[in-house]
Amino acid sequence: MSGKKKVQGRVLSQQKIAPGIYDLWMETELAKEAGAGQFIGIYPEDGAHLLPRPISICEVDKERGALRVVYRIVGAGTAWFATWKPKQKVDILGVLGNGYPVREILENYTGKENKKEEPGGREIVLLGGGIGIPPMLELAKELSAQGTEPVIVAGYRDQNLFLADDLAKYGRVLTATEDGSAGVKGNVLDVLSKEGIRPALIMACGPMPMLRAVKAFAAKEGVLAYISLEERMACGVGACLGCVCKTTRKDPHSHVKNARICTEGPVFEAGEVEI
Ligand code: FES
Repeated sequence: MSGKKKVQGRVLSQQKIAPGIYDLWMETELAKEAGAGQFIGIYPEDGAHLLPRPISICEVDKERGALRVVYRIVGAGTAWFATWKPKQKVDILGVLGNGYPVREILENYTGKENKKEEPGGREIVLLGGGIGIPPMLELAKELSAQGTEPVIVAGYRDQNLFLADDLAKYGRVLTATEDGSAGVKGNVLDVLSKEGIRPALIMACGPMPMLRAVKAFAAKEGVLAYISLEERMACGVGACLGCVCKTTRKDPHSHVKNARICTEGPVFEAGEVEI
């Protein structure tokens, strides 16, 4: 992964796509280095004194030199971002974190699982819950560029199915809603059982209860799963230690088995972390 730096970007467009959820495209040199599952830190107005807000990358347009983020308003910082209009200058720290190792994942996948050999098939399954859905878009795009069509299961609160049309460009999209107003009533795992989908490999991002369920499901089914714990991050830059979690990996210096999600993750192999 390349080193992080603070750069100035510029808003290209912004729109509200669901209640409290905004879709922001910014022109920034960081687009060259960004990949699925990574995030950036966006500075609030007087950025000199405040820590940036970590926001995950939804889509990368390397040709245009632009990054897309889809975020939920959760406090004063993100409420301020939502007021931005095109041409607004933005201070950004990035690219941050370790994302989904798409190429390695696919190499392992094709090595261990041959979809064609198994009647009924097994799928590469992306699971996104709530504000964990946006990173699935860049992930699906990268997988599709490698010739894979994933099954993408998106879990929403209600019928505001933000990004569902964008996701459909790169895979087969299935939805779940908590209130049953669209798709399957329930969560993303309910969709798998209802639709009879058997994953060969899972990549997930969403709230912690969902990720715990995904980890348990993957262990039970013997399926490799990568999960993004980005929900647990606060500062995003290694400063607050609010994101420490237990892992099976030992730090070579301190010999402890703790990891900072923002610097060593946010994506981990599910069996590697205690959540
Ligand atoms: Fe602050 Fe990781 S989020 S140290």
